[in-house]
Amino acid sequence: MKIYYIFLLLLFVVLPLSAQVNVIPQPNKIEYHKGSCPLKTPITYITDNSIPSKEGYELIVQPKKIILKFSSKAGKFYAEQTLAQLIFQAEQESKKVLPCLSIIDAPRFSYRALMIDPARHYWKVEDIKKYIDVMAQYKLNYLHLHLNDDQGWRIEIKKYPKLTEVGAKRTDFEGSKRNNEGYYTQEEMKNLVAYGLERNVQLVPEFDMPGHNDATVAAYPFLSCNDTIITVRTTSGVSKNLLCVGKEKVFSFIDDVITELSTIFPCTYFHIGGDEAPMDKWQESKEVRTLKNKENLKDDSQLMSYFFEKVNTSLLKNGKQPLIWMELDVPVYPKNSIMYLWRINTTKQVLERAKKDNFKLICSPGEYAYFDYPQAKDDLPNVNWMPTLPLEKVLLFNPGFNLSKEEEKQYILGVEATLWGESVKDLFRAFYMTYPRALALSEVGWTQMPQRSWQAFVDRLEGQLSYLWHQGVNYRVPVELAN
Ligand code: ACM
Repeated sequence: MKIYYIFLLLLFVVLPLSAQVNVIPQPNKIEYHKGSCPLKTPITYITDNSIPSKEGYELIVQPKKIILKFSSKAGKFYAEQTLAQLIFQAEQESKKVLPCLSIIDAPRFSYRALMIDPARHYWKVEDIKKYIDVMAQYKLNYLHLHLNDDQGWRIEIKKYPKLTEVGAKRTDFEGSKRNNEGYYTQEEMKNLVAYGLERNVQLVPEFDMPGHNDATVAAYPFLSCNDTIITVRTTSGVSKNLLCVGKEKVFSFIDDVITELSTIFPCTYFHIGGDEAPMDKWQESKEVRTLKNKENLKDDSQLMSYFFEKVNTSLLKNGKQPLIWMELDVPVYPKNSIMYLWRINTTKQVLERAKKDNFKLICSPGEYAYFDYPQAKDDLPNVNWMPTLPLEKVLLFNPGFNLSKEEEKQYILGVEATLWGESVKDLFRAFYMTYPRALALSEVGWTQMPQRSWQAFVDRLEGQLSYLWHQGVNYRVPVELAN
């Protein structure tokens, strides 16, 4: 009798455990079955329109069959990513077989993004492609490109050539005397958009405004309130040279830029910035005073709302929906906006505001999702003044907060990690800051809470670090986990 129990224990406990697979993000449902399947087994692809999520898929491994089911190209791509991870694991463990199992999987959130900042330090097209390759296999599906800032303008706009002739060049940064120069031609960017789409990654452009525009004003001084002559900014920080809300020709410029960008980026989402825009120069401007009287704007904060409404007109004309870094002191945003939760310690107020104004949110809070923050104290030179963001903290993030299921569906579109680029001079550093934290972020965006735990993530991490290693990705070794 005892032997019988031991046999049962082996069958139901040890067997499934030994078959544990290292997939990231953790699939939402896995069932292990008896038996194994040779690695070289041909794959059967089955379109199944009853799979409700476009990104969802089923993966069935049987003794003589591997079946992938999906209802769209995205689901097929994700089924293949999961299978590739299973095959890599088997090969690493010197096995010639896969465990028999069935996976039924679909994402928790539709928006799962990383943001990069080529404005601060230009990225070569090839490097962005490598970055896309790696994120795509973890089912991250949007890459947000921060294309302009005080320190650089990085996309060709045919009607305004000086944006790149002047705005894409900088001779120094923080006293390093290092040139930074480069921009994407429209052809290059279209090619990059297509490259992303083949991997289920949509590129989201950001034209940050009205603040963060020194490079823009350096190229075209008429865009500022007092036609300020400046150079592209060579230090970090927040500039006061806003695009001028009081000039109609500023809105014509914005309309032209949005129209050209809309021919490059098919994605409906279009980021229009909105962060860190001190209004000092607006307040001093004669044109802005005239506008306030004409539009009967009593409070200066209404100027910001007026600005975004006008920009939104251009977006609507081009079939786009605004994404905006939310600032709590802006009283009204366009009704169709999707707002970013980003500032540290503002979650409660932003959630209240989302409910009041019926906005959807992209969750990118500094506490959990700012990948420019170091992963440990003393890990890197010159960034110890920043908070640290350890891997475990990213994994523990729940973008559902304490909302009900219905509220989560109504208010939360997804998650995004931001890799601000002041200290990110090359792809080597970018990968170091991104991985392994993006593995945790992918799980935050994809996997339902009951299927997530820190320990289960750690158990799968080593295999995934090996996967990254084989692809030449420079991740940070999470040394604090060694014991
Ligand atoms: C931001 O971190 N300035 C959005």
